[in-house]
Amino acid sequence: MRRIGYKVIDTIVEHLTDMEDLKIHAQKSPQYLNEKLGGTIPNKGQNPLHLIDQAKQEVFANILHVDHPRFYAFIPSPGNFMGVMADTLAKGFNVFNGHWLAGSGSAAIERITVDWLKDICRFPKKGGGLFLSGGSMANLSAIATARKIKLKDEGKRGVVYYSNQTHSSLAKGLKVLGIGEKYRRPLPTDQDLRIDIKALEKAIKRDLKRGLRPFCIVGNAGTTNAGAVDPLEKMAKIAEKYNCWLHIDGAYGAAAMLTKTGRKALKGIEMGDSLTLDPHKWWFQPMEMGCLLVKDANHLKTTFQVSAEYLEDTKAKGLEEINYYDHGIQLTRSFRALKLYLSLKTFGLKAFKKAIQKGMDMADYTEKLLRKEADWKIITPAQLGILNFIYAPKGASRSAIDTYSKEIAEKVMHDGFAMITTTKIDDLTVLRMCPIHPGLMKSDIKETIKKLKQFAREVG
Ligand SMILES: Cc1ncc(COP(=O)(O)O)c(C=O)c1O
Repeated sequence: MRRIGYKVIDTIVEHLTDMEDLKIHAQKSPQYLNEKLGGTIPNKGQNPLHLIDQAKQEVFANILHVDHPRFYAFIPSPGNFMGVMADTLAKGFNVFNGHWLAGSGSAAIERITVDWLKDICRFPKKGGGLFLSGGSMANLSAIATARKIKLKDEGKRGVVYYSNQTHSSLAKGLKVLGIGEKYRRPLPTDQDLRIDIKALEKAIKRDLKRGLRPFCIVGNAGTTNAGAVDPLEKMAKIAEKYNCWLHIDGAYGAAAMLTKTGRKALKGIEMGDSLTLDPHKWWFQPMEMGCLLVKDANHLKTTFQVSAEYLEDTKAKGLEEINYYDHGIQLTRSFRALKLYLSLKTFGLKAFKKAIQKGMDMADYTEKLLRKEADWKIITPAQLGILNFIYAPKGASRSAIDTYSKEIAEKVMHDGFAMITTTKIDDLTVLRMCPIHPGLMKSDIKETIKKLKQFAREVG
């Protein structure tokens, strides 16, 4: 066991220390990988040390390194070593974190860590929450809760409102919950990509007239596209007026509550009935770790609690127990909380604050450098660590810009020095960067822009 363990740790440490020289994007064909890794299950066992080597050469060498400092695409996932070790420990003890009987220690850590997050996001003491696989599950669980609390078990005609910038996981959650397109209202946004608040109230009034039941409004605390924050305070007022649940998706952005700039941008986040935030995004945790916070812990129980005769023994009387299986979908749950708990304790909150502020500063710095370049144009300024821009030499048409963005992103990916992807803002394909890895240096940004300019010359 020790020999295998040392080899695993050595392999991880090598990966983390040799990161600088890695090509960020590595991929092989399905045929190649099938040839190397496929075949029938061997009858006879094989040497585990050789198998670890093989995994290193053929599996881990062919993944996108989302933990690389110059991975600017999608939402980067810069983990931390203490988090990795905490996950390893939790797996080593195979903690069953579904109820107090099986895991009082782990449930206590989950409750403490959720309480810390509640404090940071200014949620009340009577609030609750739990850790989930990620933002998609947190959003889905939030809508399930909203429906239970606001519609009880009656209504099928409940409507959900959100901006057209809301992450696709929300639409997926609605689909899974059987809330069809007829009951979804993706609404327009203003020039800053924030929900059009007038359109929101108008849509609610229209639906009421038609005999529908508006029951949930979803606000963004940092959109995936541009880091935009919806007018959360105004949304909360509308939610109150029309007896709707306000869910806030801060899967990416809520981490900025640790900084002064972030708290200003995220004003009103505490007004949500529920909030999604993902420790595996900007809280530097290895996957999978999402979190759902709710203003009233009882709402989760009301939504998810069911009983079964074989679980009766888990309902300890007189204990201030937390049976997390009553708070969410999973019964068998892993011990996700340990990684955030131990890394917050190891590094201290100050280090987290500094790292998050640095991400925002790096995005500002990138914007500043790009603004100095005549042929480049900022489309959305740096907001909560995300910016969008285009290569737009004089006279370039919209369709030429579309093509430039796609081709430049492709060249960046094949080059392997950095990773940038495109998105669409107002139907224009743009280059999007989210430079939030705490190990990123200004020299990396300068070098990235140099590469972008080189690739732009090649495609332009
Ligand atoms: C704002 C937002 N919400 C939800 C999600 C979905 O999170 P996950 O991929 O962890 O399920 C994402 C993912 O990037 C996101 O950016």
